Amino acid sequence: MEVRSTSVQPRCTPLSARLRASLLLTLVLGVWCGQALEMITGKIPYLEAVNGSTVLLPCKYASCVGIQDLFFRWSFNDTDPSNRLCEAVIKDEYTEPREVHIFKDRVELVGSTKAPDQNVSILLYNITFEDGGVYTCYGKNPKEKGRFHNATFTLVVVDELKVVDNSLGILIASCVGGFIGLLVCYALIKNLTLFIIAKLDEKNKECLVTSSGIDNTENGLSGSKSTPKPTPKKA
Ligand SMILES: *[C@@H]1O[C@H](CO)[C@@H](O)[C@H](O)[C@H]1NC(C)=O
Ligand SMILES: *[C@@H]1O[C@H](CO)[C@@H](O)[C@H](O)[C@H]1NC(C)=O
Ligand SMILES: *[C@@H]1O[C@H](CO)[C@@H](O)[C@H](O)[C@H]1NC(C)=O
Repeated sequence: MEVRSTSVQPRCTPLSARLRASLLLTLVLGVWCGQALEMITGKIPYLEAVNGSTVLLPCKYASCVGIQDLFFRWSFNDTDPSNRLCEAVIKDEYTEPREVHIFKDRVELVGSTKAPDQNVSILLYNITFEDGGVYTCYGKNPKEKGRFHNATFTLVVVDELKVVDNSLGILIASCVGGFIGLLVCYALIKNLTLFIIAKLDEKNKECLVTSSGIDNTENGLSGSKSTPKPTPKKA
């Protein structure tokens, strides 16, 4: 009796749970798809490049409702509307754009606009310092009542790439260098002092010897102490 009642109840709960889950899924999907088109310039939309080099300005589109005649445009420092670099219309995810409008030399659309890649990146050749700034990748999908979506990418043009300085290494190196320098200095000063002391001692001795040698030749007390000195004098 009890076994039957327990077997009935679990059959009922999964059904309502499944219903609730599917309802939730539809809701989540609906909210997620509200932001249908997305333009993506990558996790780090920033690049430092040396003047004269060629750079890739990355951009991808993503849409969970699909695209139809997606219009996209790259522009530079957007405050000036004439700064368009490139424009095209992509019929759907399975085709490349029929014609690409390029408004600036040194710009080329690269990558495949088709489904798995959905890549609308451009190459900018032989960059100059004037090319540094903010690049905007726009997308407009008529499937979503023509709303504009965009993402930006910042290009910084530098004279030469700075080498990432290992400050800890430099610190250690300078510490070790400083320590060695100190040791060398200490040794030098010590030796110099010893040398000077020795010289002074020698001089003093010599003075003593010579004075004593001159003053008391008969004495022989100090003279016997420094026997080698007087001998060359005599010789
Ligand atoms: C980059 O700019 C510097 C300074 O204006 C110039 O000397 C150098 O030749 C340039 N490099 C290239 C690759 O154009
Ligand atoms: C880039 O510079 C090189 C060397 O100066 C030149 O041969 C090439 O045509 C330039 N490319 C573009 C797209 O201007
Ligand atoms: C887009 O295409 C270019 C050229 O083929 C490639 O270098 C780049 O990595 C692609 N970007 C992405 C995000 O797939």
